[in-house]
Amino acid sequence: MQTLIEQWSGEAVVTRYDRETETWVFIAIHDTTLGPAMGGCRVWQYPTPADGLRDAMRLAEGMTHKWAAIGFDLGGGKSVLAVPRPLEGDARRGLLRRFGRLVASLCGAYQCGPDLGTTPDDMAVIGEETEYVHGYDRVHGQPVDPGPFTALGVFVGMRAALQQAFGSVEFAGRTVLVQGIGDVGVPLARQVAEAGATLVLSDTDHNRAERLATALGARTVPADQISTTPCDVYAPCAIGGILNATTIPLLGCRVVAGSANNQLAEPADADRMHRRGILYAPDYVINAGGATALPLLGRGHAAEEVLDRIRTFERTLTEIFSVAVANDESPYHAAQRRVDRVLTARRRA
Ligand code: PHE
Repeated sequence: MQTLIEQWSGEAVVTRYDRETETWVFIAIHDTTLGPAMGGCRVWQYPTPADGLRDAMRLAEGMTHKWAAIGFDLGGGKSVLAVPRPLEGDARRGLLRRFGRLVASLCGAYQCGPDLGTTPDDMAVIGEETEYVHGYDRVHGQPVDPGPFTALGVFVGMRAALQQAFGSVEFAGRTVLVQGIGDVGVPLARQVAEAGATLVLSDTDHNRAERLATALGARTVPADQISTTPCDVYAPCAIGGILNATTIPLLGCRVVAGSANNQLAEPADADRMHRRGILYAPDYVINAGGATALPLLGRGHAAEEVLDRIRTFERTLTEIFSVAVANDESPYHAAQRRVDRVLTARRRA
C-alpha cells in the first residue's frame, strides 16, 4: 500500500480499519482543482486490502475526468469499503454509520453517493451521520436512484456511436449486448428494447438475466461468453477492467458503449480497440448521467431539467467521435484532451 500511495497522482487517501466488521475503508481524493471531491461509495470484496485501495484510487481519478468532462465544479474522489464477506443487517448498518462519521469528519472535503454494491437506502443510513451524502432526498425522505439517469446518458451516447459507426441513430436492426443487469443495466435494457434493438443480456447471476430477458423478449448469454458474443453494440454495465489485452482480440462488436467505470484495464486498450476498428465511447463521458443528476437534484433542480442536460451527452460524444476520426485515434484520447484543457485552464486561473 505504501508503494501504491507513493506512486499515485492523487492528493490524499484517508484510511480506516473497521475492526468490528474487519473492513478496510479508503477514501481517495484525486484532484480538487475544480472543487471539493465527490464520488460514489463502493462496497465490494477484494482479494487484498491493497486491491481495494487501488480500485479507490483509479475510480477517484475517473471522477476527476468525469466532473471536468461535464463541466461541474467538483473534484475527483471515491470511497471503497473493502468488506471481507457480504455484510447485512446490523453489521452493515453499523459499518455504514461509522463510515458516515468518517465522511462527516472531513467537513465536505469528500461527498459520497451510491456506487457498485451500495444503494440509495445505504445512503440514507450514511445520511444519519453526515450531510455530505447524495442519493437521498432529505426533504421528502426518499432515496434518489442515479441508475435511470446514468442509463439515459448511455442510451443517447449509443445514438451518437451508432451514427458514427453505421451512419444512422436507428436501433432497429441492431443487436445490443448489455452486461450487468443492475441499477443501470435494467433501465438501459428497457430503453434499448423499446427503441427496437435486438437485445442480449448477461449477468454473473444468470437467473437475473433470464428474468429480465423473459420480460423484454431478449435472449441471454452466459457471463463467460460476453467477450465473444457477436453484436453491434456492447454495453459493459458492471465491473471495470473488462476491456483488456485478453478480451479485446475476441470482441465481436463494432461499438463499446456502456456505463461501467474504468472499463479499460490500461490506456493502451483504447488503442487496441481502435486498431480493431471498434468505436469506444469513453466511460467517464457516457456514464456521467448519475453524476449529473445527483448534485443537481440535491440542489433542487427539476428532474426534467436534469434529463435535458443528460441528453446533451449525445452532442458531446458526437464531437469527441468527430475529433477522433479526424485524428485517426481512439475517442479516449480526444476525451482526455478535453479534460486536460478544462483542468489546465482552471489551474492557470
Ligand atoms: N457512482 C456513480 C458514478 O460513478 C454515481 C455517482 C456520481 C455517485 C457522483 C456519487 C457521485 O458516476
